[in-house]
Amino acid sequence: MKRRKFIEKLSASGLGVLAISSVIGCKSKGGKRRRESAPIIPIKPQVIATWNFGKAVETAVQILEAGGTAIDAVEQGCRVEEADSKQQTVGKGGMPDSEGNVTLDACIMDEKGNYGAVLCVKNIKHVVSVARKVMEETPHVMLVGEGAEKFAISKGFIPEDLLTESVKKAWEKWKETSEYNPIINIENNDTIGMLALDKHGQLSGACTTSGLAYKMPGRVGDSPIIGGGLFVDNEVGAAAATGLGEAVLKTVGSFLIVELMRQGMSPQDACEEAIKRIVTNPQSDYKNFQVGYIAINKKGETGGYSIHEWFSYNVYKKGALENIKSDFYLANKQ
Ligand code: GLY
Repeated sequence: MKRRKFIEKLSASGLGVLAISSVIGCKSKGGKRRRESAPIIPIKPQVIATWNFGKAVETAVQILEAGGTAIDAVEQGCRVEEADSKQQTVGKGGMPDSEGNVTLDACIMDEKGNYGAVLCVKNIKHVVSVARKVMEETPHVMLVGEGAEKFAISKGFIPEDLLTESVKKAWEKWKETSEYNPIINIENNDTIGMLALDKHGQLSGACTTSGLAYKMPGRVGDSPIIGGGLFVDNEVGAAAATGLGEAVLKTVGSFLIVELMRQGMSPQDACEEAIKRIVTNPQSDYKNFQVGYIAINKKGETGGYSIHEWFSYNVYKKGALENIKSDFYLANKQ
């Protein structure tokens, strides 16, 4: 009697379970194969997100717990921070470029490998949702600047001034010297990158940011770039980045982490290896900037790692939300 094991997702049933079934290879009287009843392993929805964006994660969790999809969860989670005008690194209230314009970057990627992004967008706060529209309603994957803004307006997004009074004052003060010396999320948080695993076992991710404060007009970082700020491979896992986008892009960080997981590394080890690729470059000025990564694999294992201290991330799994202080490269390696 030959025994063959396989894993079957019961997504169509809506049961929210992963069933591990066994097929008995021997024939019954009628000559047909017979399927044994399967042990059922429930999948608990999971969310992981950069920094201490607790409200965003709670929103994503509510969607997943109600049976929603990972792609809806990450979009709605990111929108919470985009709408928070006190949050100076994402959406409305984000820090402007050197000319006082707030320009936003975002991307989203679903379980089928579909991807959408918008870059350097003015006047529209929910850029993660515009990115989703690019993914679902255009033949393209990226729209930039005015084209992205026009597209958003054509889809019903309402333009608004994203520069708040307090941020405008900070920019005016900065202009007195115009010294460009960003202390990149060593002490402040920045980009929200969010990854979710839904009850059907599907992975999705999203990323949204206002980028570096006082950046050059037109500058875009890692956050909307596939493989840089975000990458999802539903067979393997997903990763997202925060910190100095230039350093993430030079090492294609999120794609690297997913590929390392494909080769068998845990999410934690893969994040550590991606950080090592940055700091072991002899040209790297890594003591003066921050990069942090988060990752999740298909089994729901998670990890996170950064160059410096001060990076934390939220994980929701087994029914509880936890803010985890990341391990960091500079812990013992000064
Ligand atoms: N990680 C955000 C940026 O560099 O723009």
